[in-house]
Amino acid sequence: MSKKFFVTTPIYYVNDRPHIGHLCTTLAADILARYHRLLGEKVFFLTGTDEHGAKIAEAAKENQQSPKDYCDQLAVDFERNWKKLNLSYDFFIRTTDPRHEKFVSKFIEKIYKNGDIYKGKYEGLYCIGCEKFLTDSELIDGCCPYHPSRKPIRQVEENYFFRLSKYQKEVEKIIQKNIYHLVPENKKRETLNKIKKGLDDLSISRASVSWGIPLPWDKSQTIYVWFEALLNYFTATQFLNGKDIFWPPDLHIVGKEISWFHAVIWPAMLLSAELPLPKKLFIHSFYISRGQKMSKSIGNIIQPKQLINEFGLEATRYLIASTFPHSDDSDITMEYFKEKYNADLANGIGNLVQRVSVLCQMSNVKCQMSKPNFKFQNYNLYNQLLEEYKFNEALVWIWEKINKLDKYVNDNKPWEKQGNERKIILEKPIFDLLEIAFLLQPFLPQTSQKITEIFFSERIKAPTKPLFPRI
Ligand code: MSP
Repeated sequence: MSKKFFVTTPIYYVNDRPHIGHLCTTLAADILARYHRLLGEKVFFLTGTDEHGAKIAEAAKENQQSPKDYCDQLAVDFERNWKKLNLSYDFFIRTTDPRHEKFVSKFIEKIYKNGDIYKGKYEGLYCIGCEKFLTDSELIDGCCPYHPSRKPIRQVEENYFFRLSKYQKEVEKIIQKNIYHLVPENKKRETLNKIKKGLDDLSISRASVSWGIPLPWDKSQTIYVWFEALLNYFTATQFLNGKDIFWPPDLHIVGKEISWFHAVIWPAMLLSAELPLPKKLFIHSFYISRGQKMSKSIGNIIQPKQLINEFGLEATRYLIASTFPHSDDSDITMEYFKEKYNADLANGIGNLVQRVSVLCQMSNVKCQMSKPNFKFQNYNLYNQLLEEYKFNEALVWIWEKINKLDKYVNDNKPWEKQGNERKIILEKPIFDLLEIAFLLQPFLPQTSQKITEIFFSERIKAPTKPLFPRI
C-alpha cells in the first residue's frame, strides 16, 4: 500500500474574516499536501471552522442573528477564499456538523467512563477572545496578551474537569522522545519546560454557555469549545467514509499561541481515550506589520482578498509562501509585497519565460525531450527543505536556478546568433524552465502548468500575456 499523509490546519473561528495569518497555515498544509500527492502518497488534507462557544455566540448576538445562521453565513466566506486560492483540502469540517457532534459525545462519554472526568468548582479569569482561563503568569497588566482590549472576566462555576495532571509524565515522555515530534526545536523545549512546572486539571464544560454540544450525562452543561474543537481532527476521520485509515495525523500545523492545546492537552485526551497519537506538530510564528501584531483595532490586517485583487492568485501564493513565519515572526506590509512581486515574479520568472519563449517562437525551436521525467528523489536539498517546512528557503533555492538561467541567457545572447547556433543555446533554457516548472508544482500549480505547456511543445509559442505583469 502507498504511504499515507494526513495533514491538518487549525479550524478557524468563524467570527474573524480570513486574513493572511489564517492563509499562511492553510497554504503551508496545501503545499505539503500537493507535495505528498506528487510523491504518490495517499493524502488527506483537513481544514474547517470552529463554530461553538461564547465568542461566536457573542458575535452572533451583536449581529442580531442566531448563532447557527451567523456561522452558516461566515463559514461560506472562509470556503470561498480557500477555493479562490486553489487550496486543495479534501474536507472542510464545521463543528456544527451533527456528525461531528455525535462523535464528540461518544469520545467524551468514553473518557468519562474511564474515570478521567470529575465534577469540581472553577474560579478564574476567562478570556473570551482566546476561549480559555488565564493563569496569573499569562496576564500582562491584568489583561490577556493577545486580547489587551478585552478585560478577562472572573468566572466561578461548577464544571466538569479532565484529569490532565494524570498525564503529565506520559505527555512529557512522548514529546521528549519525539513520539509526538514538536518542531521547531525551541518550541519543543519551551513546551517541555512549561510541562515540568506541572499540569492542572482542565475545566472542560460550561454551565453558562448554551451555544455548544451538551454533555451527554449532564445536559445543563456544554462541552468546552477547545475540548470539542480539537476533536475535529479525529471525528472527520470517523464520520467520513473510508477516512479512518488516515488516523493518526501525520502532521498538525498551528500558530504559536495555540500550541499548548495541541502539544499537551490534545495528546492527553487521546491517551485517555487510548487512541493512537499524532506524529508531528509544527508550530509556526506570526505575521506582524511594522513590528506590531496584526489586529482589527490597529487596522493593519491584510486579507487574502486584497492580495488576490492586487497581485492575482498565484502571486498571492508565492508572496505568502516566501514570507511564511517559520520560526520567527515575519514583518510584512503591502509595499513589501509589491516590491517582492515585481522583483521575483514580474522581473524574475515572468520576464525570463517571456524572453525565452519569444526567442524560441522566432526561431522555431522545439523541446528536445520526449517527455519531461523529473523525479523528486533527485533533489535532496529541496526535499529536505520541504520536510522541514522551510518554504521560503525552498523558493530561494528555486530562484537561484532562475537567476542563474537568466545570467546564462544574458551571457550567451541568443538574439545575436542565427540558425542552429541559436537553437543550441536555447536548449538549456527550455530544459531548465521545465525543471523549474516541475519544482514549482506544490507552490504555484497553475504557473507550473503554464510553463510546462509553453515549453513542452512541438511549436513553442510565447504567451500573449506575461505570466506576471509589472505593477
Ligand atoms: N479556533 C481556534 C483553533 C482550534 S483548532 C482545534 C483558533 N482559531 S483562530 O482563527 O483564532 O486562529 C487560527 C490560526 O490562525 C492559529 O494557528 C493562529 O496562530 C493563526 N493566526 C492568527 N493570526 C496570525 C498571524 N497574525 N500570523 C500567523 N498566524 C496567525 O485559534
